[in-house]
Amino acid sequence: MPVVIINDVAYEANPGERLLDVARRNGAHIGFVCDGQGICQTCQCRVLDGAQHLNKLSKAEEIWFPQSRIANGNRLACQTAMRGPGPVRVLTLAEELRRQTLNVINPPRGTSAAEHLEPLLENLARLNVDQLRLFPFNNIRTWARVGTRTFLWPWKDLNRWFDDVARVSSQVAGSPRPQLSETPHEGSEQQLLAAARRVQRTRERV
Ligand code: FES
Repeated sequence: MPVVIINDVAYEANPGERLLDVARRNGAHIGFVCDGQGICQTCQCRVLDGAQHLNKLSKAEEIWFPQSRIANGNRLACQTAMRGPGPVRVLTLAEELRRQTLNVINPPRGTSAAEHLEPLLENLARLNVDQLRLFPFNNIRTWARVGTRTFLWPWKDLNRWFDDVARVSSQVAGSPRPQLSETPHEGSEQQLLAAARRVQRTRERV
């Protein structure tokens, strides 16, 4: 089974499955306001490892992302599917902002709120600038891509959507405070393989 590590937790994925579906099924911290239609961008994530195991950029991502974001490894999880065994490691934008915000509210020992505020503000500013640069053509092209009906009402299954929102919210509310893992660190390959083996062992026990 392909392995995907979302926000430092390893999950099993089905071959060809979208990262958003893996995250929703497991309650990983991710946004999905438009129910996976490629409209809202709240499922945005950054691929830290294993990009070669993913599908190519979709039309929706080309519409929403400037070149700098693509070069930075950003993807829309609802447009990104497994094309290999992995492991693939991603950090969702929702979780990255949560971790940055927690560092400001309650700075780790020996650090100040001010020094954590800068990366958070920079992140938010970059998001807005990227959107403004492409506006209004990003919205117009998305409208043309999905059609008026989906653009105005993207939800295919509201019950499932509410269930998944509840699952993600309760997991996030109960999750411990992790360290911000922005880039692959030393030995990350070994850690990925260890995580993959843990998933495999769990699967064998079930
Ligand atoms: S869920 Fe809205 S763009 Fe992916």
